[in-house]
Amino acid sequence: MITYDEKQQVFHLSTNKISYLIQVEDGGLLAHLYFGKAVQSYHGQFRYPRADRSFSPNPPLAKDRLFSFDTVLQELPGNPGDFRVPALELLHESGSSVSDFRFEDYEIIQGKKSIPGLPATYAMEKEASTLIITLKDQLYDIYLDLFYTVFDNQAVLVRSSRLRNESAETLAIQKLASLSLDFASSSFELVHLSGSWSRERMIQREVVAPGTKALSSRRGSSSHHENPFAALVAPETTEAAGEAYGFSLVYSGNHETTIERDPYEQTRVTMGINSQQFSWSLEAGNDFYTPEAVLVYSDEGLNGMSQSFHYLFQHHLIRGRFKYEPRPVLANNWEATFFDFNEEKIMEIAKEAKELGAELFVLDDGWFGKRDADNSSLGDWYEYEGKLSRGLAQLSKEIHGLGLSFGLWFEPEMISEQSELYKKHPDWAFHVPGREKTIGRGQFVLDFSRADVRETVYQQMKAILDHVQVDYIKWDMNRNMTDVYSVLLKKEQQGETAHRYILGLYEFLERMTTEYPDILFESCSGGGGRFDPGMLYYMPQVWASDNTDAVSRMAIQYGTSLVYPVSTIGAHVAAVPNHQTGRTTSLETRGNVAMSGLFGYELDLTHLSDGEREELKEQTNFYKSHRQLIQYGTYYRLKSPFEGNEVSWQFVAPDQSEALVFYSRVLAEASAPFHVLKLTGLNPEKSYRIKDKVVGGDELMNIGLYIDTEAWGDYASQLIYIEAAD
Ligand code: DGJ
Repeated sequence: MITYDEKQQVFHLSTNKISYLIQVEDGGLLAHLYFGKAVQSYHGQFRYPRADRSFSPNPPLAKDRLFSFDTVLQELPGNPGDFRVPALELLHESGSSVSDFRFEDYEIIQGKKSIPGLPATYAMEKEASTLIITLKDQLYDIYLDLFYTVFDNQAVLVRSSRLRNESAETLAIQKLASLSLDFASSSFELVHLSGSWSRERMIQREVVAPGTKALSSRRGSSSHHENPFAALVAPETTEAAGEAYGFSLVYSGNHETTIERDPYEQTRVTMGINSQQFSWSLEAGNDFYTPEAVLVYSDEGLNGMSQSFHYLFQHHLIRGRFKYEPRPVLANNWEATFFDFNEEKIMEIAKEAKELGAELFVLDDGWFGKRDADNSSLGDWYEYEGKLSRGLAQLSKEIHGLGLSFGLWFEPEMISEQSELYKKHPDWAFHVPGREKTIGRGQFVLDFSRADVRETVYQQMKAILDHVQVDYIKWDMNRNMTDVYSVLLKKEQQGETAHRYILGLYEFLERMTTEYPDILFESCSGGGGRFDPGMLYYMPQVWASDNTDAVSRMAIQYGTSLVYPVSTIGAHVAAVPNHQTGRTTSLETRGNVAMSGLFGYELDLTHLSDGEREELKEQTNFYKSHRQLIQYGTYYRLKSPFEGNEVSWQFVAPDQSEALVFYSRVLAEASAPFHVLKLTGLNPEKSYRIKDKVVGGDELMNIGLYIDTEAWGDYASQLIYIEAAD
């Protein structure tokens, strides 16, 4: 529900879980009052206190020295006199970068508008309400529309904005954040997800101290290194209890989040497109939309925050046929063969996969151009003649004949120097004329801001897809962007290139997913280098990491779950010693970890022993019979790999009729304590069957279980299934 109290000039956006209050302050400044646990109504007691703060200037319209933009909590700061991190920086033709936006108008609508050219959450009219507040610059006919949507029964609000240039001048947007949120005096800790290739989304937690902390990517993608996510939590907040505010950006390119604690213990969060190496030339009559930012409030700890993100992404972001479908068990040949395969080898693996219960076979890299190594053929999306003796269409047919569907790997945004495409169009790679290009994994980045480049790649892919039966595409992206310059853009537009690339990518994906609605897309960027809500809008699942080691994966999947639902997290059983870490873990643990996501195999199945074959078959059967619970159940983190030697999480059916618990004590301990695990999310009134006992849900949650770990050895784990007994 959204109301406007004309007398107090206060907007109240609310659901049964949250309230968000905005005040039109003196002089029309749009001030922020509150975001957090719901209040039924607001009576005006929380207006920003008046005080004369030295060195905090007073805006021209202030009646006295008691009001300053420098201290008041705001909605989209950028006006002069606020020395904190701005949400907006515009450069006028005069050379001035001063703006002064004030309240002009508002509108309340049912449902939610889409954002032209950008992925965004969606809702039907009866599911959400949207407030649009329009601000106007005091000097120019430049308008800022701020969009706020609340979703019924959810603890979520999403924000975005549009800048409209109705003046006669061309404006340079140097920064326009999707979100800016000010908190009154409070003590916070910051939780965020940092990492690198093969070590994505490691949870970091630190005190928010005076000054500014920036979390960002300038890599042209959302990156392995810093996910577009942050949370502010109370110092006492745990997984299970306490307040948490989560922020996530629906965007796949350069992003930045700043967290600033000011001298008055107020905290400001801004989030949006990275303003470094960005500018956008907004000509008269044009508008610019920011990506959308998601804000979540939880008073049920980090698990509560994650469940709100999961719900929103599952129901209001992911689209298409596969949104609620059980995701297939897949076998991928990458770690089995790398580039070294032929038709016989692929068919042998596929037959084994079928025997084990797989449903989809994915032919990874190496099937196109003359691709035998990673330094050639990107951009030549036609069959590698002779590598598959009877051709790709026939291979797909035979794989279908086995009763498996067929998937194919593409890396559409890239070009190899050794390729036919590069011979014809060397200028299609990002480059600065006259300079040598930087190379990454032996390849360059195609200028996807260009429609002609996109059209050529699209037609190449289409030729394959119209001729080979393809049910799944793994869309990869294996380097970050350098030499970001587009030869088709004017010099004053070069700061737009990285964002235009992402807009081009989104346009491509929109077109392809519309033309091929029956293909299941899995996003990948050297594993999880582009695991973000923007990609989820087009591709409902992501290969979470190139690291297939079960112990590393416990941390990667645990961190990923902070924001992303299990139905999006690709996880496969790989060979040991592991390719990335050299570690040897049991097949049981590899299976238990992979079964905690979208399960599959990533090893040479033709080399399994009889015992391993049997065990994998059992795992696959087990997974299939519980996959609804795993993929679409409510997910709880119980014990963090970032805090100790035990790791645990739990899936609970929405009606609490069953649950599955993953537990690992990572390193063996001599004379170990008898570890107790308390479950969560069950119905305290119900009895549950666990192993051969029937016990109360309240017992499992309040008293817990002793975990039997006597002679387990390193890296051991178990899955415990619990079912309602009555
Ligand atoms: C990186 C991906 O993450 C891998 O799974 C695999 O597809 C390779 N690329 C292929 O080059």
